[in-house]
Amino acid sequence: MLSLKEIKTILRSADNPELLNEIQSRAEAITIQNVGPAIYLRALIEFSNICGCNCYYCGIRKSNPFPQRYLMKSKEIIHLAVSAAKQGFTSLVLQSGERKDPAFIKLTEQIIREIKKETQTKYLPKGLGITLSVGEQTQETYQRFFEAGAHRYLLRIETSSPKLFTLIHPPEQTYTSRLRALKNLKAIGYQVGTGVMIGLPSQTLEDLAADIQFFQDIDIDMIGMGPYLPHPDTPMNCWSNETRARQESIYHLSLAMIAAARLCCPKTNIASTTALQTIAPGGRIQGLRFGANVLMPQTTPSSIRANYLLYEGKPCSDENSEQSLHELEKQVLSIGRKLSLDKWGDSLRFQERKLAHQSILKN
Ligand code: 5AD
Repeated sequence: MLSLKEIKTILRSADNPELLNEIQSRAEAITIQNVGPAIYLRALIEFSNICGCNCYYCGIRKSNPFPQRYLMKSKEIIHLAVSAAKQGFTSLVLQSGERKDPAFIKLTEQIIREIKKETQTKYLPKGLGITLSVGEQTQETYQRFFEAGAHRYLLRIETSSPKLFTLIHPPEQTYTSRLRALKNLKAIGYQVGTGVMIGLPSQTLEDLAADIQFFQDIDIDMIGMGPYLPHPDTPMNCWSNETRARQESIYHLSLAMIAAARLCCPKTNIASTTALQTIAPGGRIQGLRFGANVLMPQTTPSSIRANYLLYEGKPCSDENSEQSLHELEKQVLSIGRKLSLDKWGDSLRFQERKLAHQSILKN
């Protein structure tokens, strides 16, 4: 466990290239020591941008009239999943806007079941590993998704500061409810991932250091963080000029955050996110060098991808072709790591906790 002061020292190094280099080497060594050189891939399918929430920062918020709303057909989603499996992916992330209505829940449940069934092979007898990311749901819904076959869930806390959380969300969304959802997911038995946005207006270094401590305290299995990138059609756009001017330092801060997360939670799976790539070319590979071990290439068809713009500048180019997978592999090899298409690539922290729990039960 690192103290708040130690975490802050790591984050402060973002302003100093020499110190940042040192942090990078340390984080890289700790990564290899704890989770090895393997990079796990998740095919990301953004299956719907219909959202019932009005987060002040998000481009697909309910009140933004501009994106053309879509819900991919089940057949199309299953087809994408099967093609991802054929390409060599062993896991996928199913992400969409937040909807709590029975039709959506039923549909999501069916899609999970179908994908599990359709992607079983000798090599993957239980089908593709499925990570779900469809926001806050009731415990009962989470249980249904789990029983259908989703075994990992991503739900960002966005910021561990209740005060800042309130500033960036409308009153109907509460910090307490987000926290409860994370606890429910864990209780059901999911591998749970969370994360924050970096560089939010009025966010301090202290807040970010507390975010890292939050990951430690709740003993999270997976972490996904990225820079906050303003979207012009959101209420938070009024702050965007200030944020834009700080983009380079937010980029370095994001890398330092990944390093701090790796040092504090050495056995978690940490994703290097698309937002990192958006703020700086090559950012996603840098994220790996600073301690991340998961990549989530977009597999959403490019024809609808333009409608899933959570933030400005989100890449819409085609990433799912085998050629770009090959390109990714080359980049990963160039930093001395390798793509792992082995099993589901579960979080070692989760496995470790499960074993500890079993041995407590035995004794
Ligand atoms: N900038 C960066 N990340 C964003 N997200 C949503 N909007 C933005 C933005 N403007 C992130 C949130 C959410 C995830 C799906 O996308 O952290 O949890």
